[in-house]
Amino acid sequence: MDIMTESEINECFAFASTIAKEAGKVISSAFYKEKDIETKAGVADLVTKSDKEVEKLLFDSIRSKFPSHKLIGEESVSAGDVSPHTNDPTWIIDPIDGTTNFVHRFPYVAVCIGFTYNKEIKFGVVYNPILDELYTAKRGTGAFLNGTRIHVSQEPDLRKCLVMTECGSSRDDVVMAKLFENMQSVLSTPVHTIHSLGSAAMNACMVAKGAAEAYYEFGPHCWDFCAAGIIVEEAGGVLMNGDGGPFDLMARQIIAANNPEVGKSLAKRLVQQISFPHDCQ
Ligand code: IPD
Ligand code: CA
Repeated sequence: MDIMTESEINECFAFASTIAKEAGKVISSAFYKEKDIETKAGVADLVTKSDKEVEKLLFDSIRSKFPSHKLIGEESVSAGDVSPHTNDPTWIIDPIDGTTNFVHRFPYVAVCIGFTYNKEIKFGVVYNPILDELYTAKRGTGAFLNGTRIHVSQEPDLRKCLVMTECGSSRDDVVMAKLFENMQSVLSTPVHTIHSLGSAAMNACMVAKGAAEAYYEFGPHCWDFCAAGIIVEEAGGVLMNGDGGPFDLMARQIIAANNPEVGKSLAKRLVQQISFPHDCQ
């Protein structure tokens, strides 16, 4: 693969926003209709016809414009595509983050398009078509919501924070017990509160726009937080693994925080580190 120039990355970034809006139209038009629902890895891991349709639309669009680029998408991986993550230009896509919300018409759903080159996230686009919110960020140029610059909260004290997390889709007793132990530990810090929007990407975007101080979760995949992750960083925030160590996009765990102090304090409260098999391996 030839070296990618900044202007080629810019072209991909602009294209990502265009196709996120196209995908958003498909999601919006299906949002209030009856859904065709199937389960994947467990009873609470849902997929609909729209998830597959939107992923196909995005993959077809990218393949026709950038035929040499690699693609990693939730529904393709679920269907058995286990390509490794390489240094090549790679689009990491969740057609609908918040499928359970989509099924229940809870308006926090997002098309997520992240892009890596040399395994570094270069840009991310997260589009919620129900609220018409387009979050965008390219490395080194800031984060934006519908074109207006956004910034993380300045709060340094975890005890004054609003923390986001999720129940995830595992209903395994051991996993659930660890999840509740972590929630109790965080809540008893004490923090101001814990919220869940039902979408990893939307939770992270709340951190990016300063509406929450931190988001943590064990279990989501690279496509859930690749795009939103760079949006948090470009809004001034930080990404870490669940133990406060360096962030690994494929490790299926994340702390996205407004600053290192809050991120590190939160990591200390996560008494149960929950591991899942890594993505793309
Ligand atoms: C899920 C959502 C959910 C989070 C899960 C994700 P999906 O993604 O982001 O909030 O708890 O870990 O897998 O399945 O709706 O794309
Ligand atoms: Ca999804």
